[in-house]
Amino acid sequence: MFKIGVLVSGGGTNLQAIIDRIEDGTIKNAKIVTVVSSNKEAYALKRAEKYGIENTCISPKQFENREEFNKALINYFEKKEVDLIVLAGYLVVLGENFVNHFKNKIMNIHPSLIPAFCGEGYYGLKVHEAALNRGVKITGATVHFVDEGTDTGPIILQKAVNVEDGDTPQTLQKRVMEEAEWEIYPKAIALYCEGKIKIKDGKVKIL
Ligand code: GRF
Repeated sequence: MFKIGVLVSGGGTNLQAIIDRIEDGTIKNAKIVTVVSSNKEAYALKRAEKYGIENTCISPKQFENREEFNKALINYFEKKEVDLIVLAGYLVVLGENFVNHFKNKIMNIHPSLIPAFCGEGYYGLKVHEAALNRGVKITGATVHFVDEGTDTGPIILQKAVNVEDGDTPQTLQKRVMEEAEWEIYPKAIALYCEGKIKIKDGKVKIL
């Protein structure tokens, strides 16, 4: 049984999509063992609660500095013996020690086709605002492994979504979630749990 830990900060619709695909058997042989939020008000915690998934808040604010926070987070996930850590709308930048400790075991979803509209400062609606300002006709979502950089790790899956006339950042965000994020995140996790993802020379090969 693959043990998954999920890090969240907000609404948790991606967490929900992952729970749904575990429940219906699309993601096989896996269990979410814990959901950790950086913010105790996050609705994602309520979603976890509803499915009887252990959940807690570990916030950088509870620690003297980022190093202590990262150490505590490493210890927490080590104790839970997680095989994979999934960032689902997690708004904290993880330290290098955390990322290196769980190398190639941390996934993230970004709401654009990387390398467009990604990196520092591109999060939430800002990503969709930037896409609309540039006038792109196609955007999408990317699931990638997390490395020391921001949105720079090996790309696992991507899916394109059309930009429509009259889109606002909100309508575009909704379409990208519905048509891409909720589909490719569970899919990438399923592939990982089936041992079908290999990384060579910084690139992902799906077996
Ligand atoms: C999503 O758009 C995701 O791509 C980004 O943060 C948002 C999280 O939404 N990383 P939710 O909390 O999963 O609803």
